[in-house]
Amino acid sequence: MRRLKVKSRDFDYQVVAGRAAWSAFQRFPYRSYSSIFILTERSLWRRWGANFLKASRLIAPQEIFVPSGENSKSIRMAEQVAATLLKKGADRRSLLIAFGGGVVGDLGGFVASTYMRGIDYIQVPTTVVAQVDSAIGGKTAVNVGEMKNLIGTFAPPRLVLADPVVLKSLPPRAFLSGFYEVAKHAVISGPNLFSLMEESAGRLRPGLNGALDDLLARAAQVKVDIVNHDEHEADLRRLLNLGHTFGHALEEATGYNRFLHGEAVGWGLLCAAQLGVILKMLNAKEEERISALVRRIGPLPSIRDLSPAKIRKLFPRDKKAVAGQIHWVVPEKIGKVRIVRDVPMDAAVEALRIVQESEAHD
Ligand SMILES: NC(=O)c1ccc[n+]([C@@H]2O[C@H](COP(=O)([O-])OP(=O)(O)OC[C@H]3O[C@@H](n4cnc5c(N)ncnc54)[C@H](O)[C@@H]3O)[C@@H](O)[C@H]2O)c1
Ligand SMILES: [Zn+2]
Repeated sequence: MRRLKVKSRDFDYQVVAGRAAWSAFQRFPYRSYSSIFILTERSLWRRWGANFLKASRLIAPQEIFVPSGENSKSIRMAEQVAATLLKKGADRRSLLIAFGGGVVGDLGGFVASTYMRGIDYIQVPTTVVAQVDSAIGGKTAVNVGEMKNLIGTFAPPRLVLADPVVLKSLPPRAFLSGFYEVAKHAVISGPNLFSLMEESAGRLRPGLNGALDDLLARAAQVKVDIVNHDEHEADLRRLLNLGHTFGHALEEATGYNRFLHGEAVGWGLLCAAQLGVILKMLNAKEEERISALVRRIGPLPSIRDLSPAKIRKLFPRDKKAVAGQIHWVVPEKIGKVRIVRDVPMDAAVEALRIVQESEAHD
């Protein structure tokens, strides 16, 4: 179990990552709150609630359930959760625990940071993505229509409890898809985490072992380090967008129903590595190593049939595009990625085309 410290503007908090992380709740001053609420999904809580209560020694928190899926990240749902909190008697000294993946985490953080102008909350992430990324850093949000994360706040949690035991119940595909984000962290962070990821990449399964716990904790550390340098998203935090400009375009081009998000990021990493080569920023050897790692994680749904011309039009709609610009995140080597703002559109399309062709040869 590791305790990672996050420095935030108003207070510091811990990310506890590893087996038995939930028991760290016992040392949290939860008795100082007037009431405690758990925001979660019903089936997830049915599977893991008793374990969490046992480990945390939390007694009879009040439960609030939201349906599973991205649709729950909406203003309407935030309003419903706030109304339920009110009905159940939550006041300004109540504590909210967001127990779930990135959806519950983003929604819960958003509600907590706005309910009565803000109450404390804790993240208990239950997916790979949430454990290494979304639960850390205090970005909260809901979607508006097609626009993901349009309305949100910066509101750090008081504590993050990331116990990998909970990942056991993830469907294998969802489990694997989170590791494309771990691979992304590895490319950003450097040879140590990258090698560790290489060792595990071919044998990732729900319910695994100590090596996996270590990998996840170190991937969480990458996010913690970035947040500690740059809580409010300047360029450093933008590096986490590696693979996402391509990835988002692929998701959008397929109506969000072909790829899990992480899988789109997997393709995005392959494209970003090719882009690095095209721009003469990344040498072929490093590109091969990155690509081999991504491909070892698992099979990705095909992109062969997608029209590069169509995807090209979808790039600028990336929400990280400021004033129409796209911030391409391009690897220079394992452990060094850079933001490039003036990438010729043809180069990006070419990168995609090369990756599409390499799939045909698989
Ligand atoms: N705030 C941030 O900094 C940040 C960063 C990255 C992603 N995000 C957001 O995170 C969200 C994606 O997160 P996600 O991938 O965790 O999606 P998710 O929360 O929708 O979870 C994925 C699926 O897994 C199920 N699930 C969750 N935990 C489970 C478990 N332990 N066992 C079995 N099933 C389980 C959920 O019901 C859901 O169907 C997106 O909305 C994205 O915008 C936020
Ligand atoms: Zn992502």
